[in-house]
Amino acid sequence: PSGCSIREDGRVEMHGVALLDIAKEFGTPCFVYDLDHIKARANEARGAAPWTVAYASKAFLCRELVRVLDRMGLSMDVASGGELAVVISGGLDPGRIIFHGNNKSQLELSEAIDYGVGLVVVDSMTELERLESICRSRGVVARILIRITPGVEAHTHEFVMTGQEDTKFGFSLKSGEAEQAIERSIRSDFLDFVGIHAHIGSQIFLLDSYYKEVEALSGIIERYQPATVNLGGGLGVAYLGDELTPTFDEWARVLYGALSDLRVDSKTQIIVEPGRSLIASSALTLYRVGTIKVLPGLRTYVSVDGGMSDNPRPVLYDSGYEAFMPGYGSAIRDSCVTIVGKHCESGDVLIRNAWLPRTLAEGDIIATPVTGAYGYSMASNYNRVPRPPVVFVDSDGPRLAIRGETYEDLLRLEI
Ligand code: LLP
Repeated sequence: PSGCSIREDGRVEMHGVALLDIAKEFGTPCFVYDLDHIKARANEARGAAPWTVAYASKAFLCRELVRVLDRMGLSMDVASGGELAVVISGGLDPGRIIFHGNNKSQLELSEAIDYGVGLVVVDSMTELERLESICRSRGVVARILIRITPGVEAHTHEFVMTGQEDTKFGFSLKSGEAEQAIERSIRSDFLDFVGIHAHIGSQIFLLDSYYKEVEALSGIIERYQPATVNLGGGLGVAYLGDELTPTFDEWARVLYGALSDLRVDSKTQIIVEPGRSLIASSALTLYRVGTIKVLPGLRTYVSVDGGMSDNPRPVLYDSGYEAFMPGYGSAIRDSCVTIVGKHCESGDVLIRNAWLPRTLAEGDIIATPVTGAYGYSMASNYNRVPRPPVVFVDSDGPRLAIRGETYEDLLRLEI
């Protein structure tokens, strides 16, 4: 995995620290992020085009990450009052926050206005009116983007597809609602129509979907010449060794290529909102093997001390992951096993067919790479399993960014 190297003795290390030592110091399961890799990805994204990069904080969020991305000049996308509160608490200039959501509450909208977020992405006519009335009562003007459903089906899992006509997100282009919303906001004294937003989905590998997205928006762009065009996130990430992913440069070429076919003001601000592609490959999860059960003629179950509570993606989206042994980085992976979690259901499978060295034994540490996005952020306390710690590593060594939960944490909300 990125950020790791194999020592002569076969141990896998990150910034000179053996992953086994990190497991020893911080326990398992444990998310381990390579800070330099995060910075490198953020730099690649920023350098790919003269666009504004707004990190989609739903992929993974904590204050330390906000501080890192803030120093690098990134903007951030938040999709709830909770994400907004964490980003504000991390010290990001509110002007660099983009606020999303298809059902923002009255409170969330008010908080966004009171913090002075840079852009509110308006998702429905009801919300447009709610926001307008909040602004009227405070005598302020909100800068908004109108979220448009471009009617593009990206080739991805249906749960993370958002650009098609049948969706809960945004204003339909086809029915004319998008134009009505734009016209309505242009007329408002308390809304400043800054531009449009669209997001076609997540884990997208075929860049032609983005070409189609811009093509679908072309009429609106040429007609209204918006100051800002936010084209969303969704760039795909390789979870398995043989997958090829588009780069930020290739993504930029497709988007800017599509835009260059239009009459667009050269001063138009283009925003992209990558989440997964910025952060996924920066982290791996360390687990300890508890039991190994061989079912002759069927399969071998390797149970680890985490599971669907720290990585629900395999269960939710049938997502594939790989595993390796940080203690034996160069060992031949000649045994196919099924890695399962510790939760009380058979669906709690992390990797159906994982290739690991035949020597794998109970008590060994294994690592699953590319768990930096939508792992910790979607983690749960199912079976009252405490959430694992998150460790950041750079040349200063490993340190806790988020401590692991304790049994007391599990009880802290009970009256
Ligand atoms: N912008 C908007 C408006 C979004 O809804 C999303 C993701 C993004 C940006 C960032 O997309 P990304 O670059 O990360 O693909 N839990 C799912 C992914 C859900 C994505 C939701 N929206 C998963 O684990 O695959």
